Amino acid sequence: MASKALDPCVFVLFGATGDLTRRKLTPALYALHCEKLLPADFKIVAYARRDKDDQIFRDDLKAAMAEFAPKVKLNAGEWDSFASRCSYIKGEFDNAEGFARLRVALDAIDEKSGHSHNRLYYLAIPPEQYTGVAGHLGEAGLNATREGWTRIIVEKPFGYDLETSRSLNDALLAHFTEAQIYRIDHYLGKETVQNILVFRFANELFEPLWNHKYVEHVQITVAEKIGVEGRGNFFDETGIARDILQNHALQLLALTAMEAPVRLDADSIRDEKVKAIRSIRPVKPEDVPNCTVRGQYAGYRTEPGVDPHSATETYAALELHLDNWRWGGVPFYVRCAKAMPRRVTEVAVQFRAIPQVLFAKLEREHVQPNVLVIRIQPDEGIHLQIGAKRPGPAMELAPVNLDFNYSEAFVGAPIADAYERLLLDAIRGDASLFARGDEVEAAWKLLTPILTEWKKRPGDVQPYFPDTWGPEKAEHLLESEGRTWREP
Ligand code: BG6
Repeated sequence: MASKALDPCVFVLFGATGDLTRRKLTPALYALHCEKLLPADFKIVAYARRDKDDQIFRDDLKAAMAEFAPKVKLNAGEWDSFASRCSYIKGEFDNAEGFARLRVALDAIDEKSGHSHNRLYYLAIPPEQYTGVAGHLGEAGLNATREGWTRIIVEKPFGYDLETSRSLNDALLAHFTEAQIYRIDHYLGKETVQNILVFRFANELFEPLWNHKYVEHVQITVAEKIGVEGRGNFFDETGIARDILQNHALQLLALTAMEAPVRLDADSIRDEKVKAIRSIRPVKPEDVPNCTVRGQYAGYRTEPGVDPHSATETYAALELHLDNWRWGGVPFYVRCAKAMPRRVTEVAVQFRAIPQVLFAKLEREHVQPNVLVIRIQPDEGIHLQIGAKRPGPAMELAPVNLDFNYSEAFVGAPIADAYERLLLDAIRGDASLFARGDEVEAAWKLLTPILTEWKKRPGDVQPYFPDTWGPEKAEHLLESEGRTWREP
């Protein structure tokens, strides 16, 4: 049994032997298969360069499950039925002959089953090959929406800066329409990220406070405990700002800051996110040294694949301001980093201090402002810090939390991996959780001048020790206003 409501579909996977396929796509597709969420007629056709046949490809997928989803107990019958959906075509990414064969193979699938299949292409390949593959798909006539639909999923990075992201968009749009293009930012598939919208717009309580009148500042943290973990080559070319800040962190900011969409459809949501990103004040070159901080963890330069003189940042923090009616005067501090004391992603909204301290003998600093923390991962949940009276004869205050934890509130409902949700949405044709071209460009428009300035100042990269919360200079970003980074 599988989802009868969904029409027949062929999922064409480019880059079938790569890391993403093994780590993320295989477990996600298998989970969707086991949950009977895939269309009943759903085939996976891998297109890759190595010499393999269907059976070797299926064995590879099984090995990937053992390595990257070891907790999933493979049920033999279930696995065989999943594997029977999968086939392999050997072909180059840069030659038309392979794409012509792909077309023949896809047509043969339609003919054999007596009906046409929708087509979903997934580019799990290095970004420099996106343009070529999209072009070959177009030239082979594989881009056309025939009886059903044809869509293409592209993985980040969507370009390297504003110019390259525009060229990539243009290259994709030369063969596919915007409505056919699904740009994956896997953060958007996380339950807790989606819950930001639910929290804001399905509850009356907080939205009236969600503005400059009550919010003092916002901190967005994407911290990882790991370093570059064998991805030195890639990371050294990329840096944390391109890898995480331009996409995941700015998406969190957009969801936190945006206005309510008029409807919950893909374009209404994305219209509001684009507006939020566009309202961020551009950081002027002369302000870059004061409004941004870069760091590099000690030992980074000896990681395999990393230039021993590298000035690539593994820590980036920005102070941003949104020039709009809601957020005028409220700084948004965004930091992304590797080699931190712990893995944590959160949005912390700090409310303004009370206007007057009523409690005798208490200094203002003893009455801490309210903080609302949306914990994206791990320990997913929402926590509201309030002041409470400490039990005892004295009037002493202590900060305490009102807590919502996913694991306690939704017992037995484990949080699915983001890729599961996103693959299913792409099959269903819901693009709400995918980045639109203008959104990606708006993010690059903000970041590119900062990156350009950083490049001129390699000496500004501050060292920090792994397992600390980053370079000391990061504290200066906030402290002029008496603020401090949270230690999540
Ligand atoms: C990826 C980055 O997009 O996100 C990685 O390329 C990073 O560097 C990863 O480790 C983090 O994702 P998650 O879901 O583990 O927070």
